[in-house]
Parts: sequence; structure tokens; C-alpha cells
Amino acid sequence: MSRIRTSSGELLIELQRSGGAPLHQQLESGIRDRIREGRLRPGAVMPSTRSFAEDLGLSRGVVVEAYQQLVAEGYLVSRAGGYTEVAEVAAIESPGVTMLTGVESRIDFRYSRPDVSQFPRAAWLRSIRRVLNETPYRSLAYLDGRGTIELRTALADYLNRVRGTAARPEHMVICNGFAQGSRLLLQVLAAQGYRCIAVEDPSDNDLRRVAAAAGLTTVGVPVLEGGVDVEALERSEADVVLVTAAHQFPTGVVTSAETRAALVAWAARRGGLVIEDDYDAEFRYDREPIGAMQGLMPDRVAYAGTASKTLAPGLRLGWMILPPRLVEPMAQAKLMDDRGSPVLDQLAFADFVARGEFDRHLRRMRPRYRLLRDTLVERLAARLPELVPTGVSAGLHVMALLPDGLTESAVQAAALERGLGVYGLAPYWVTPPGPAGLVFGYGGLTVNTVIEGVDLLAEAVAVARE
Ligand SMILES: Cc1ncc(COP(=O)(O)O)c(C=O)c1O
Repeated sequence: MSRIRTSSGELLIELQRSGGAPLHQQLESGIRDRIREGRLRPGAVMPSTRSFAEDLGLSRGVVVEAYQQLVAEGYLVSRAGGYTEVAEVAAIESPGVTMLTGVESRIDFRYSRPDVSQFPRAAWLRSIRRVLNETPYRSLAYLDGRGTIELRTALADYLNRVRGTAARPEHMVICNGFAQGSRLLLQVLAAQGYRCIAVEDPSDNDLRRVAAAAGLTTVGVPVLEGGVDVEALERSEADVVLVTAAHQFPTGVVTSAETRAALVAWAARRGGLVIEDDYDAEFRYDREPIGAMQGLMPDRVAYAGTASKTLAPGLRLGWMILPPRLVEPMAQAKLMDDRGSPVLDQLAFADFVARGEFDRHLRRMRPRYRLLRDTLVERLAARLPELVPTGVSAGLHVMALLPDGLTESAVQAAALERGLGVYGLAPYWVTPPGPAGLVFGYGGLTVNTVIEGVDLLAEAVAVARE
């Protein structure tokens, strides 16, 4: 099949020759934008580097560098015939749709990105094959609102062994990630008469919007050295509290044994509920594993887990272990919402977990993430010693407060000019303004991009200070 090359004229990329970002970066972002907007379609053949360089009055090396970067990001592919084309999988952004996972920066410390390039395709494929060969037809009918028994059983075994939970498959509900599980749970709780949810201050801001939509009021409780301030919780109106006990988001604080005990005791006294968001506990680097709170008092803790950090957020697989009284209402809410999560995905995941592939995958990923964490911490110490990272012992992110005289917005703007995405703490404070700081997600980066990212940040901080 003959291929028609896109001409450089069709791309209409304007470059700012003086005072702008480096030319290869301008070219990259011009091409990236055209792909994301759908103006350059998957399969379109890019102009040759020579003709593109000539038309734009650039050296060929600049175009080669831009193409190489976009190949690395997955927007372009180099083909054997010596040409480059737009990748089939390139993310196309339809007009008016905001992509949550936008790729504006060349190096991006955006939180919540595991390394999806390490997704265990071969093992997952084996599980899918097995499931398709062996699953009886009746399993393809409408689902139990709790999800498939195979997945609930495999996860209960795994969580009881690894996270110290006291899970029984009949008390579990499979959902499309924490996002759906938490939304349904807050709706169920509101319908049962719960009125006010306490959240950690700082914490993920999405949940506050979800709580408001469910008709719950929200109160922020400060995060202290050992976890949330239980005395402040006692004084509040809250009858539910949501905690990220294993590795607080975003501070990284690990909830102490004392605070855990105090939290479940609070829930028992108040007739309330602790929601335990165990989103990244599988990645621990320098400290002893700490069991989930759910195991302490299964009747007062709703435990939520997700495959978003361990495997891939696009799977949309999550699970809850619920106090028995909440199981039926949650199963009903799940059925009302979407009639259940896709059955083949559930069965493949069940097979993957039951065969030990999940453990194997985690064993493979831990040293990779640890290396990234070490690189980030060491580079920050070398280049930006005034930014002291905290919460480094686990997870896929660290946090660092900014020294006096620096604002998040100034650092972010200076970083963005250098093609670097960094993210401030501001959205996470329940009672703003809290101290300024940055949250560094490193899960989706490489050792080289972490190093380069910190170096760019050092430049940005110097400029932001001027
Ligand atoms: C605090 C926290 N909890 C849970 C999740 C996982 O959410 P989901 O399972 O909906 O992908 C995230 C994702 O980034 C998170 O930041």
C-alpha cells in the first residue's frame, strides 16, 4: 500500500525563535497537540526529518530529537521503511473533552501514574485464555451485585495473607475502582442516615465533591505525625471517617498502632464507620508491613482496595470488604449503578491472583519503584536540599514543603516553561491555606527522567525565587 506523507505545510507549526522554549520542545508540543486534537490521525505518515527541517529552517537534528521524544512517549512510531507515522494508540482528544491524564509536559511528576509499560501482558493473556476456555456459559449471565465469587475468593485469600484483613468473600463487593466503590458507599451511608464525613486534612479532593453530591457534609481533621488527630475527630460532628492509614495521601504519614486503635474505638463508640482507603500499601520499601485496620474491627471498618496502583488504573478494578450490614445495600447500589463490573475482567483477575501472578508482579515492581524513589530522594538532596521529601517509605509518591519565599504557582509556572509538570499541595487542603508544597509522583517515570526532572526543577526554583 502506498503511503501519502503529511506535508510540513499541513501541520502549520509556528515556532518562537527567540526567548521561547528550546526549538525541539516547541516542535514536540506542536505535533503532540495536533495528534491529541485529532488533526493528525493514527497512521498518518510524518514529513521526513530532512524536508521538515528545511521547511521550518531548522537543523535536522532538532526534528530528529522531537520525533525521538514523541516515539518514546508513544505518539509516533518509527517504521522499518525509514518513515515515522502517528501511532495507532496515540491519545486523541476530541474537542471539548478534557483529558484527566493530559500530557502537556515532557517530564511529569503528576501523581497517580504507575508504570503501565510494565503491565504483565503475557501472564494476563494466559489468565484470559484460561478463563475463556474454562468458564461455563452460565457465568456470562447477569451478575451477583457483589461480583464474581471467584474474584472475591481469590482477593479475600490474598488480602488476609498479605494485608492482615479478616475478609470473607460473602462480605466483599467488586467495583470499578475506588472511585465507584467510595461513591456508592457514601450514597448508601447517606441513605442510612449518616450525615457528616471526616477526611484527612490534607487529602484527595475528589472525595469531598463525591460526599457533597451524596448529601454529606465534610469536615477536615488534621494529619499529625501518627495519623489523623483523633481528638479533633471526637470533637467533630462526623459519623464516618475516611483514612489512608497505610500511607497517607498526600503526606505519606503512616498511621501509628495507637491511632489505629483509637480510630476503631471511636467508630465503635459513635456507632460510626471508618473507611480505609488502602490504595498503595503493596509498595513498601523500608519499613515493616503494617496490617490493614479492617482486621482490627471488621464490623466498623469498610476496607477499599484497587488495582490502579498495582496493575493499571485503566483496568478499573476495585474491591471492598464491608461490615455485614452494608453488604446487601452496596450490592444493590452496584447493580443499580451498572449491573456489575465486566465479568471476563473479574475472572481473569481472579485467575491471575489465585495463580500467584499478582504476587510475582508485585515482587518484580517493588525494586523498580524503589530505585525510582531512591533516585528522586538522592537527586533532591543533591540539587534542592531545601526541599525535604517526606512519606518516602512507601507508595508511588513523596511530598516536600516549599521553603519560605516560594509559591507553588511560581514554581509550577517556571517548571512548565521547561517542559516539567510539578503539582502543588493547594488542592488537597480541606481548610486552606495550608503550607505550600509539592507532591511528586514518580511511578510512571524512569531513572533518567527523574534525574532530569529534578534538575529542571532546580532551575525552576531558582527562577521562581528571583
Ligand atoms: C488516595 C487515593 N485513593 C484511591 C485511588 C484509586 O482510585 P481508583 O481505584 O478509582 O483508580 C487513588 C488514585 O490515584 C488515590 O489517590
